[in-house]
Amino acid sequence: MPNEVGNPSLQDLLRVLDNNRVNKFYWLITILAAVGGFLFGYDTAAIGTAELFVPFHYEGFLLGYEVASASLGAAIGTVLAYFYTDKYGRKSLLIVDALIYALAAIGSALSVNGIMLLIMRTLLGVAIGADSAIATAYITEYAPKDKRGSLAIMQQWMITIGILGSYLIGSAIFYAVPDLAYSLGWRLVLGLAAVPALIGFAFRFIMPESPRWLLYTGKLDELKMELRKFGFDISEQNLERLRAITLTEMKEASLDDAAKKALIVVGLWLVFQQITGINVPFYYGPIVLSKLHLFGTAVNPVYSNIYAVLESAILAAINVAATFIAFRYIDRIGRRTLGLSAYIGMLISDLIGGISVVRGFLPGVLIAFAGFIIFFAYGVGGTGWLIQAEYFDTRIRGRMAAIGALIDWLANFVIIEVFPVMLSSIGLAGSMFIFAVLDVVALMFIYLFVPETKGLSLEEIVEMFKQVPFTQLRHGRELIAPTLLQREEKH
Ligand code: BGC
Repeated sequence: MPNEVGNPSLQDLLRVLDNNRVNKFYWLITILAAVGGFLFGYDTAAIGTAELFVPFHYEGFLLGYEVASASLGAAIGTVLAYFYTDKYGRKSLLIVDALIYALAAIGSALSVNGIMLLIMRTLLGVAIGADSAIATAYITEYAPKDKRGSLAIMQQWMITIGILGSYLIGSAIFYAVPDLAYSLGWRLVLGLAAVPALIGFAFRFIMPESPRWLLYTGKLDELKMELRKFGFDISEQNLERLRAITLTEMKEASLDDAAKKALIVVGLWLVFQQITGINVPFYYGPIVLSKLHLFGTAVNPVYSNIYAVLESAILAAINVAATFIAFRYIDRIGRRTLGLSAYIGMLISDLIGGISVVRGFLPGVLIAFAGFIIFFAYGVGGTGWLIQAEYFDTRIRGRMAAIGALIDWLANFVIIEVFPVMLSSIGLAGSMFIFAVLDVVALMFIYLFVPETKGLSLEEIVEMFKQVPFTQLRHGRELIAPTLLQREEKH
């Protein structure tokens, strides 16, 4: 039986949501919201696996576009999310997104030529971009404040599971039917993504619309209905009182100083998240690993490709396992502390990697790649997607989170373009030392400007960005504590 929300003011209603107990329903809708994360991971990695066997050949402009298609599509996806989601909601976008994922997967599998595959990859990028813009924003809007970190980290966890899944499924398919690798094999690897996408499409209809978004856009009848799914009821009388309050209290939010400060912090975090090179071990790890001959030496090119894929799977499995630490501790240890310690670990890993390359010590390179992934996974990857969602006023959250995602994809594109040039000009050791320098800059940025947001409600976070000057943000939580305490007492 749903609990009656007594005497609701906006704050009361939010308090109830913020302090609710996380039950199975919360996990279910969070997993549904994060299905897109799984596909984000699966599709970005599956392309790399399948590509080894795709028989279409690209030249000139198309060759360049082949690398850029997913990032470009993702950029388009974030822009679509920007214009859509604050106006029309989170749920419908997530449903349409699952459908685009499914269509693009089926279309890729059925591609009759290279151009069609590129178009489908761009479409896939659109789905990935829109998903990365909105998934964690949706999750943070219903998550109780003490579990918001863990719930939002589910998105990153699903990304890592998707990456691992694509390697495992890829190698299983190619291993089972090596003769069909160049015909049916790669099509299956790309097409199978349609299965989770269609499951997501079907089941996302049962997800509630974000209660915060409904509240802040004054859609109170729908809010009443959706709140029942979370275990609360509002009587008609209280609903009318709330209607009067929302009509007078709700103003259109804008890109004010608080939002600008938040956007700078999120934007820089996401830029560092990409340019410190997380995707390098995924792309280049197998090259190093294959020299260690972990799975023996293959004469048949199909098998040597399968071995390369299996070797990627080792790093991907480490990534999944380490994300558990983020899931478990992000709400206890906090975003800032996890981020700082992670970049220290990434810095040490890069230095070990660079020195190992100089000394020709391959196992050292491997340890460095693994270490780098572990530290990134526990303190940087999921944290970035979490703060992208939790720093903004609900009325502009969708737009701001979309800008954050756009920045992430542009940085991702830059590193894809620049890294090969770095590698050929200064080598792997030089590149790792440059990444080490970037880790130091990232460390300084977090130390100086990233506030701790664990345990605060979304509204308290916005209040903090409003009240605290940029240079004091690192003490933001302590600085607003007296204000929050006063408010509690008044209540
Ligand atoms: C990043 C991806 C990366 C993945 C690795 C995500 O947070 O956005 O670029 O491949 O983490 O786990």
